[in-house]
Amino acid sequence: MKQKNKTNTWEDHYSRKAKKEKFPARSVYKLKEIQQKFAILKKNDKVLDIGCAPGSWLLYTAQVVGAGGEVRGVDLKPVDVKTPAWVTVITGDIFEMDGGFKEGIGKGYHVVMSDMAPATTGRKDMDAYRSYNLSEAALTVAREVLEEGGNFICKIFQGSEFKNFTELIKNNFRQCRIFKPESCRKESKEIYIIGIGKK
Ligand SMILES: C[S@@+](CC[C@H](N)C(=O)[O-])C[C@H]1O[C@@H](n2cnc3c(N)ncnc32)[C@H](O)[C@@H]1O
Repeated sequence: MKQKNKTNTWEDHYSRKAKKEKFPARSVYKLKEIQQKFAILKKNDKVLDIGCAPGSWLLYTAQVVGAGGEVRGVDLKPVDVKTPAWVTVITGDIFEMDGGFKEGIGKGYHVVMSDMAPATTGRKDMDAYRSYNLSEAALTVAREVLEEGGNFICKIFQGSEFKNFTELIKNNFRQCRIFKPESCRKESKEIYIIGIGKK
C-alpha cells in the first residue's frame, strides 16, 4: 500500500476537522489561531473579508461578531455556503475598486482582513510578487475604509517585497506583528501580517 507523506497527513487532519465542524475550507484554523493570539475580532464589529471564498472566514467571523455585527466579503468567485443574515458578499476583483463596487464595500470598518492568494505558477518569485500586489491592494482598501484605531490582517507570500510591505504596515498602523499559524503548511511561504491600530 502507498504510504502517505507528512503533507498529506497534515492536509487530511485539517480538512477532516473543517468538514466535521462544517467549514468549507481548512483555512478557518489560521484565522482561529490569529484570533486566539491577537483577539482582533470583537463582538458587534463591522468586518471586511477580502478573498472570502469559499467562506470559512466569513462563517467564523460571523460567529465572533454576532448578530449585532456586520461582515462583508469580497471575492472573484461567488460564495455558495449559507451564511447568517449579517453577512453579505460582493463578487468582484479587488483591483477594480471603482464605481458601484466601491460604494458596495462602504466605510466605517473595525477590521479589514485579506486571505487573498494568487493562482500559483510554481515559480516562487512570481507567486510572491503577485501575492505582494494583492496585499498592497488590500492595504489600499483598508486605508480607505477602516476607522481610526481599526485593525488589518493580511496574508502574504514571503519574497523580496515582504520587507517593503512590513514598512507600509508600520507607516499606517501603530503596531505591526508577523505571525505564522501552526495550521499553515510548514513549507509554504505564506505568513500573516497584522496591523494594529490604524493611524
Ligand atoms: C485561500 S482563498 C480564501 C479562503 C477563505 N479565507 C476561506 O476561509 O474560505 C483565496 C481567495 O482569494 C481570492 N482572490 C484572489 N485574487 C483576488 C482578487 N483580485 N480580488 C478578489 N479576490 C481574489 C480567490 O478567488 C480565492 O477565493
